[in-house]
Amino acid sequence: MIFWPVISTPSWTRSTPISRPSDCRTSAMTNPSNIVATIALDAPARADQRVWAFDYVDGFGRPASGILVRLSGDAEATEYRAYRNLCPHWSMPLDGGTGEFLDDSGHLIQCKMHGARFEIDTGECILGPCDGEYLEELRVELSADGTSATIRRGGGLRLG
Ligand code: FES
Repeated sequence: MIFWPVISTPSWTRSTPISRPSDCRTSAMTNPSNIVATIALDAPARADQRVWAFDYVDGFGRPASGILVRLSGDAEATEYRAYRNLCPHWSMPLDGGTGEFLDDSGHLIQCKMHGARFEIDTGECILGPCDGEYLEELRVELSADGTSATIRRGGGLRLG
């Protein structure tokens, strides 16, 4: 006769879901230590600018760089995304030091190293050697009057 061990419910399981704040972003959004950059968007010379590059320190204290991208070429557009300036293929800066991040169409982010293209609004690679992978997203918080953008860590790393 074989006696199988009695398997009890592990102590770490819960019968009720863990309560979370209604908006999980809240703590990250209010923690000043998560701010990596604040970018002015109202300078007249920048009316047609689509991409702003910035340097910051990542969560491990290492120097990093990022980009803030306006989704539309329309200077009045108010939707932005921010990503770490790091290609998921070879972990190289997307612009290769050129300061240029968009492809010729102006609709996609392009990695200068091997030509991978990324959707601006999601950071997903849709063409190239890292097809299906994502840029590391940072959070963007626009000021009430839309004249500045605060970039925070904690946008989440998407896995393809
Ligand atoms: S390093 Fe970006 S496509 Fe290869």
